[in-house]
Amino acid sequence: MKFSGKNAIITGAASGIGRATSRALIDNDIQLLGAIDRNEMIKDLAKETNDKIGREIVVPFVGDVTNDDFRKSVYAEMKERFGPVHICIPAAGITRDALAVKRNKETGMVETYSRNLLEEVFTINLVAPILWAMDAVASVAEDRMAKGLKRWEPAEGMQGAIVFIGSVSSAGNKGQISYAAAKAGLEGAQSTLSKEAIFYGVRCSIIHPGFTDTPMVRAMGDDYIEKNILPYTQLKRLLRPDEIADAICFMLKNSAVSGSVWVDAGWHPAA
Ligand SMILES: NC(=O)c1ccc[n+]([C@@H]2O[C@H](COP(=O)([O-])OP(=O)(O)OC[C@H]3O[C@@H](n4cnc5c(N)ncnc54)[C@H](O)[C@@H]3O)[C@@H](O)[C@H]2O)c1
Repeated sequence: MKFSGKNAIITGAASGIGRATSRALIDNDIQLLGAIDRNEMIKDLAKETNDKIGREIVVPFVGDVTNDDFRKSVYAEMKERFGPVHICIPAAGITRDALAVKRNKETGMVETYSRNLLEEVFTINLVAPILWAMDAVASVAEDRMAKGLKRWEPAEGMQGAIVFIGSVSSAGNKGQISYAAAKAGLEGAQSTLSKEAIFYGVRCSIIHPGFTDTPMVRAMGDDYIEKNILPYTQLKRLLRPDEIADAICFMLKNSAVSGSVWVDAGWHPAA
């Protein structure tokens, strides 16, 4: 699938993997990129890129990905100004790490992971990506209906693609009960949406990145990274966001990719 003539949406585009993927799509001649983040910085990043390229290629939207009205307004504006959204990479995400069951040595009590945190992580990392991805497929579907097109035929060429951002933690990781469950949930969303969206010529896949050098991982602290992450990767280093972005571009371009791709630097954590 070629990127020229395609409109894309990336959430979490102000930082880390979302930001690197935005750059990679632009380098690969994407027609237009809706860049979504709750961080106002997304406006400066968009202006910088547009000034450099000399046209409006990045359209920034500041808001919370979990807000339905915000999401609907983004899709409505994209449709009105630029046409359908063909590509969606819902990358915005958070961690709220803590042991699932924890002994409090002082009180002698045992505490379990809080329901509020579980719901916060599910809402941002699982529910929101599914909603953003479904709206992209709907955007292509509506455009096809308006043109009188029915079931997609391969001769038409690919109409679009979704790449969910999973994680190596989807296979389980100590201290990440909410994050791991949300990322594993995206597997089910991907495999279901990929079966439905192909009716409209849209593919759907999921990438499982290993630990990548972004603010999310740096927040774990250098000590933690040194002791608990680097020894368990074959490369003995964090991945670079541009390495993940490169893999996402491959997944978007290569129409044979339809499932999960693990880009994990040989992550093999202890049990
Ligand atoms: N860094 C890693 O090692 C790693 C590994 C596997 C998967 N991932 C996944 O990759 C994605 C990007 O992570 P990253 O490491 O680049 O993190 P990051 O913290 O660098 O970037 C995340 C971005 O998402 C935005 N965001 C978070 N919640 C939002 C909300 N509710 N509304 C709008 N914007 C919101 C933040 O403002 C930030 O700009 C996440 O889904 C993460 O789970 C990261």
